[in-house]
Parts: sequence; structure tokens; C-alpha cells
Amino acid sequence: MASVPGSGRDSFTSKFGIIAATAGSAIGLGNIWRFPYVAGENGGGAFLFLYLAFVMAIGIVVMLSEFVIGRSAQRNTVGAFLKLAPGKPWFLIGIMGVSAAFMILAFYAAVAGWTLEYLYQSVVNGFAGKSPDELGEMFTAFREGSWRPILWFLIFMVLTASIVISGIQKGIEKYTKILMPLLLVILVILSIRSLTLPGAGEGLRFLFKPDFSKITSRAVLVALGQALFSLSIGMGTLITYGSYIRKNDNLATTVISVSLADTFIAILAGVAIFPAVFAFGIDPAAEEGLVFITLPGIFQKMAGGCIFAPLFFILLAVAALTSTISMLEVVVAYFVEELKMTRRKATIISAVLISILGLFAAGSWGWFENMTLLGNNVFGLLNFTTINILLPVGGFFIVLFVGWFMGKKAVKAEISNEGSLKARFRIVFVFLVRFIAPIAIAIVFLNGLGIIRF
Ligand code: PFF
Repeated sequence: MASVPGSGRDSFTSKFGIIAATAGSAIGLGNIWRFPYVAGENGGGAFLFLYLAFVMAIGIVVMLSEFVIGRSAQRNTVGAFLKLAPGKPWFLIGIMGVSAAFMILAFYAAVAGWTLEYLYQSVVNGFAGKSPDELGEMFTAFREGSWRPILWFLIFMVLTASIVISGIQKGIEKYTKILMPLLLVILVILSIRSLTLPGAGEGLRFLFKPDFSKITSRAVLVALGQALFSLSIGMGTLITYGSYIRKNDNLATTVISVSLADTFIAILAGVAIFPAVFAFGIDPAAEEGLVFITLPGIFQKMAGGCIFAPLFFILLAVAALTSTISMLEVVVAYFVEELKMTRRKATIISAVLISILGLFAAGSWGWFENMTLLGNNVFGLLNFTTINILLPVGGFFIVLFVGWFMGKKAVKAEISNEGSLKARFRIVFVFLVRFIAPIAIAIVFLNGLGIIRF
């Protein structure tokens, strides 16, 4: 990162740097681990349809709104609202965002830890000769274990903090440039192998053939939450990253590239997973274990699987890492700019606090299995409430802020780079951000929680 002249703040140094960092944040376990299993639990093709509709009608709008807020304020998530709306309660949206980042990171890093365990297992050939059932048992046994899930989780938190502490991009920008395309290549190879398994067609039908009778109002809310989560929006991550974007970079094209890339990877993950799920006779609603049970099964049936498996889990861990650093950055930027801490102190304090909460998430099937509320463990509670409640509420207020509070002139100046871009889509954006996005989010949210009935 370099400094914006005169501002004293860091900024991305290139167009590619912005896309790499934003796509790095967006593409992660949400696409490869979470999308397949929530789609599996919520109706397959019909869920995919809703997810795509939400990305287009709401996701893109919220993402551009976050960039507009972040770049015009040049501040962290809380500071941005304090600066743009002084003396008004809008900063509470920022506080909610920082809290969401905190809670999401706590359970997300636990799953990232699982990828490290699976990397280890693939190196020591731990999947060899195991049937799909045995792979399922292996996953359960690992997760219920006492030390391992916790240890890997803590290692992942240390990795995340050690990158954030040194001011983000330098190393990560360089590596993501190579590693993300490589992840894509492996995912394509995996999809091809999965598609050529006997009985694969049923999986494709499950993923692409919408059966709307399976859609409940809860599933609609879950699809919205997944769309927001996957794009890293609704909690101010992209307000924070937006504040590092230079004034002459084009916000709208960045939003489009990142949304397309993110959606493509999620669908590709579905194409890799579902044919194999049906071919191996795994339950498509196998919850958080789905990917960790299915993929090792595919690797076993592949020539060169023992090389592809470790490579894949390294890349998955890296994809997770480029997401966890963006979450931690939300909290750290807030601590640094609003609470006036040094970057070092802010990183250490926030990482330690998040790790404490994360211990309960990582140990949700082991040490802390008895800590439950209404039948949900800590991991499940964090996973459901942050994504399906905090992100939609955050997204709602973010579009309201840009649509109704910021003023048309300020928004126009930001998306047209002070008039130097034509930004003809502006009229459509204004319509979506003022009416469609907030109304759609409100309806889906209230309906999904059973507060109103459609
Ligand atoms: N978008 C990330 C993923 O799909 O894995 C998850 C994520 C990252 C959510 C950053 C929120 C965030 F701020």
C-alpha cells in the first residue's frame, strides 16, 4: 500500500491490488464450504436461483454503497459514519459492523482451522482407502476431539494477525495474484472429475433444477444472508477497504468484477460437490461437514489425487486467510483510528479477544458441546445470527444511508470520480439503492423471521 497524497492514510497502489484484495475477501470458505451445504439444506436449485437474484438486485447495490461510504469518508467503518453524519446515530451501524466482524471471524477461523487439519491429513495420506462413511466418521471424530480443532484455530488466528499487523497488502497482494487463479484451476479439475463419476447427473439436477416447493421463508432469508456473507458485505468490510481505494479508481467496475468472480466460484464449488455427493450417496444436507467429507472422496478417485489434495487444501486455507485478514482489518482499523491505538497494539488486542470467543466456536463439538441455546451450539448460534440477522440489518441501513441520507450530489461525485467518469448507470443505481434494495431486504428479513407473513 502507498499513501494517498496529503491524507496520511494507506491506499491500494493499483487497480489490480484493489480487485485482488476485495476478491480475496469475498472468495473464501463462504463459497467453497458454506454455499454448497446451505444450498443442500435449503432446496438446491431453487436456493441457487434466489442466491443469484439477491447478488444481482441487492449484493451489487450494497457493495457499491459500502465503497461510496468508505472512499468518501476515508475512515474505518465507525469513523466513516461519524464523519459523514456527525451527531447522528448512524455510527451505530458501524459499531454493529465491527461486532459482526468480531463474531464472524470467531467461527470462520475455526473452519479455516479445519482446512489446516485436512491439509495435514492429505499430506500424511490420512484419507487413503476410506469409504465415504469412514470419511464422515473421520470428520466427526476430528471435530469432537479436544485439542486439535482448537489448536488449528489458534494457529489460524496467529497467521491472520501476523499479516494484519504489518499493514496488510504487501505480501498478500503478491501471493493472491498467483494463488487465486491456481485455486480456480484446481476447482475446475475437481469439477470435471466429479462430473464424470457414475451417477453425477443427479447432482447437477439437484443444483440447477429449481424446485420452488422446497423454498420456505426461512430459506429465502438464508439465501439473502449467504449472498451478503459471500460478497463480504453488510458489516463494513468494504467500507474499510473502500477507504483505501484511490480517488481515480473506478468503483463500479470493481464491484462488477468482484461479484462475478465470487458468484462463479460458488457455482463452481457446487458443480464440484453435488455430483460427487450423489455419486457417493452422501446426504446433501450433511451440514458443515459436507465439503470435508465429499472432497477427500473425489481426490481418492482421481489420478494424482494425492498431489491435488494437499494443493487444494493449501489454496483453500489461503482463500480463507485473505478473508480473515479483511475481517480483522475492520476491527483493527476501528481501534487504530477511533481508539487511537498503534496498529500493533490494536491487532494483538483484537486478535486475543476474538480468539477467546473463537475457542467456544472451535470447541463446539468437543469441550464445549454442552454449551447450547435452544439446541444450537456456540458455532451454530454465531453462524446463524451473524449472517442471517446482523448482515441483512447492516445491509439495510447501509443502502438507506447512501440512498436517503448522503445526498445525491455526494453519491454522484463518488461514483463518477468527481465527474470524470460518465457513470450512466447512476440512475439505475439510485433507484435500486433508494427503493428496491431496502424494501427487498426488509421484506425478506421480516418474513424470514416470521415477523410478517407473505
Ligand atoms: N466473503 C467471505 C467468504 O465468502 O468466505 C467471508 C467474509 C469475509 C464475510 C469478510 C465477511 C467479511 F467481512
